[in-house]
Amino acid sequence: MTDVRRTILEVLNGETVSPPPIWLMRQAGRYLPEYRATRAQAGSFLDLCYNPELAAEVTLQPIRRYGFDASILFSDILVIPDALKRNVRFLEGVGPQMDPIDADGIDQLDASNVMTHLAPVFETVRRLRRDLPAETTLLGFCGAPWTVATYMIAGKGTPDQAPARLFAYRYPKAFASLLMQLADISVDYLVGQLDAGADAVQIFDSWAGVLGEEEFAAFAIAPVARIIEGVRARRPGAKIIAFAKGAGFNLKTYRQKTGADAIGLDWSVPLNFAAELQKDGPVQGNLDPMRVVAGGQSLDDGIDRILQTLGNGPLIFNLGHGITPEANPDHVTALVKRVRSFG
Ligand code: CP3
Repeated sequence: MTDVRRTILEVLNGETVSPPPIWLMRQAGRYLPEYRATRAQAGSFLDLCYNPELAAEVTLQPIRRYGFDASILFSDILVIPDALKRNVRFLEGVGPQMDPIDADGIDQLDASNVMTHLAPVFETVRRLRRDLPAETTLLGFCGAPWTVATYMIAGKGTPDQAPARLFAYRYPKAFASLLMQLADISVDYLVGQLDAGADAVQIFDSWAGVLGEEEFAAFAIAPVARIIEGVRARRPGAKIIAFAKGAGFNLKTYRQKTGADAIGLDWSVPLNFAAELQKDGPVQGNLDPMRVVAGGQSLDDGIDRILQTLGNGPLIFNLGHGITPEANPDHVTALVKRVRSFG
């Protein structure tokens, strides 16, 4: 065990690993025929998330196929609202839906059963740590409070999260309470994943980019800082990646103020700015997922530019957001091969 290297953990410690380790956000998913087969066998999407045997199986599928350096627990950020009894369902071709919450509902949220409800997820993590290759870093995750709150308030996905932004202006107290409650639940949830065998965790703030300056500080930075502080108070040294999609110029203070070990970068972050951010610590990203759909020269060019700019510092190679169902699995093979031939 002592001579096994988990390169992603090395990067999270600030080391430069060459070639850089690689994994892809949403690496288990519909672009893989083996995922679609297991998904069909599981029943609903949530049934799959709460079935440790099948959830572990779909987590392992991209590791078997591509040998990524990290494996990310198969689950969803919306298992937290589900555990809070918000009647979450995933409708085919529509996306997630749940009962929209109002200010009274926020007052009445009952978190007492959340960890029991999520026990199958911890069981999936235990199985994964047992079944994964020793050198594969196992990542747990949760959604950031802002992003989870946007779905809880609208009751569905929306193009710009206008319902949550409006709610936050109209009902600032209730909204702050929702973010706090989600942050505290997330601490327990991440500590549970670390204790079950996750090596590090990622916090997904997919909707950070729709926030104004003050709102970014209050809704994106403060709750994530609270989660990271809370996790480290209980598990000192826990390694944490924070991904705030669309945060742009705010990313500099985002790392400083949240205390994240590494920050995830979406594909809109200019590479020279990314290199600046890398002077402060490890970065993860940031290939446009559409390049993986297109393949060929556009894929190679995108990979090379990232490697040339960021490859000689602490980098975890990743996409700038999740891989899409249209991605060609053979393009992923080409991507991994090209990253691994760097240096
Ligand atoms: O492989 C992995 O990355 C692990 C699994 C994972 C899923 N969702 C599985 C999933 C992770 C880490 C997530 C995170 C997640 N879920 C986020 C944050 C990251 C991001 O992509 O922005 C968000 C916003 C969600 C909420 C969510 N879940 C939406 C909006 C949707 C519908 C859109 C879609 O892609 O279908 C989901 C469903 C979902 N989560 C699927 C998968 C594989 C597809 C559903 C299916 O297979 O039927």
